[in-house]
Amino acid sequence: MDKMEAGRLFKDGQTVGFSGFTPAGAAKAVPQGIAAFAREEHAAGRPFKINVVTGASTGDSLDGELARAEAINWRTPYQTNNDLRKAINEGKVKYFDLHLSELAQEIRYGFLGKVDVAVIEACRVSEDGEITLTTSVGISPTLCRMADKIIIELNEAHPEALHGMHDIYELDNPPNRKTIPIYKVADRIGSPVVKVDPAKIVAVVRTNAPDQSRDFADVDEVTAQIGRNVARFLVSDMKAGRIPPGLLPLQSGVGNIANALMSALGDDAEIPPFQMYSEVIQDSVVDLMARGRVTFASGTSLTVTPPVLKRVYDNLEYFRQRMVLRPQELSNNPGLVRRLGIISINTAIEVDIFGNVNSTHIMGDKMMNGIGGSGDFTRNAYISIFTCPSTTKNGDISTIVPMVSHLDHNEHSVNIIVTEHGVADLRGKDPTERALTIINNCAAPEYREQLLAYVKANSRSGHIPHSLRNAFKMHLQFLETKSMKGVVWE
Ligand code: COA
Repeated sequence: MDKMEAGRLFKDGQTVGFSGFTPAGAAKAVPQGIAAFAREEHAAGRPFKINVVTGASTGDSLDGELARAEAINWRTPYQTNNDLRKAINEGKVKYFDLHLSELAQEIRYGFLGKVDVAVIEACRVSEDGEITLTTSVGISPTLCRMADKIIIELNEAHPEALHGMHDIYELDNPPNRKTIPIYKVADRIGSPVVKVDPAKIVAVVRTNAPDQSRDFADVDEVTAQIGRNVARFLVSDMKAGRIPPGLLPLQSGVGNIANALMSALGDDAEIPPFQMYSEVIQDSVVDLMARGRVTFASGTSLTVTPPVLKRVYDNLEYFRQRMVLRPQELSNNPGLVRRLGIISINTAIEVDIFGNVNSTHIMGDKMMNGIGGSGDFTRNAYISIFTCPSTTKNGDISTIVPMVSHLDHNEHSVNIIVTEHGVADLRGKDPTERALTIINNCAAPEYREQLLAYVKANSRSGHIPHSLRNAFKMHLQFLETKSMKGVVWE
């Protein structure tokens, strides 16, 4: 079926689940058909909006197209698209971000209502309903099972030889859930395909469209130094016997910092070859795998730039033996993260001096992307690490503040903070010790005195040296004067 014809199959108010986790494996053609149909309906004076569920973020041909067509009622669980973000922050799209490990089960439990249609990108579909997914798994197995109807986007840009890269396994609902038999990063426990009732497949749309993955920015000195600081921390904890000598599996977040950080770890001669049990497999991991520095990577998506994807496809046999793509309820599973002893490394927007982390909101109210998988890993990690540059906006914002303006990961889950200035190890420290360690090791020098003065001024206030009158004064001053510098505490 043509994508425009497929777009006309949808109805106002439906809940639609799309494949995709990041732009990798995201439905690309049918959303464009839906957006075109929405515009026609709006021009005719009829309402048309759908509820959109995906694994995580997607590409512009999904989130961007539907947002610009004003075709989204509510959206979950994560996004990174500029137009969609704008619509969310203007209150035009209802958005709730979720821990990514929880999404599939929330759909199964019925928390999000009925899924009317699943739109799934595949590289192969058989007459008897066996679907081979492409560069991500996400929540596609659950969407296929729960949706009334399925539309397949058969994308020729992905080779059928991807068959065997995926490990499809869906959890039962309580009270019948069983132990997940993954005991090693490379264990495979499921099927290479998603099996569906072929009668549910109402259309197949042929496409030939690459994943809309973004290029990485050049690594700047601040990012490179953060990477080196994380590497030094891991080496020193291995030497101290707190991390086993062979290291433990690593999880790394998404984006520039995370990509550069993995390269830094790979380049450090004192870090042994290691495994990844993560959400997203990015460019640097593929490179480290080719060099034998990463020995195996388990994820839910292969989010790489086009040249790197070509490298994987040209050497598929090599990479298939070293990579597995799982449903996100397994790649991010809290029990498995705890069992495997994952060391998590994620990026913060801001961190407070007591170790609370904001990953999602700018100045307390503007949504950036969403919590993604950072909570799944942080809360359950063997060691949870957060990285961020010590300042942003030309130094006018300190990312180290007295109190985070939005809370995603609290002090009880956060072990280590790393900026370009150093490492704050929060393990076994009380609130005042944490504050002094974070300020002295991680804050930008031009903000240290001001932050130390805050702790000193409130040292007699109780267990936590806080002042409710002053806790957001750095944020409030920035909103008024465009700088957090030179705050005087009341
Ligand atoms: N106050 C105000 N603005 C801030 C800020 C702060 N404390 N910290 C960052 N920003 C701004 C930056 O200046 C930048 O603005 P710009 O786009 O105008 O240049 C923007 O936010 C993005 O910052 P950047 O440092 O480039 O972000 P990033 O690409 O490294 O992403 C997160 C950082 C936190 C937004 C991103 O990692 C994220 O969404 N994390 C949550 C989900 C997650 O952790 N997923 C992985 C789990 S597996």
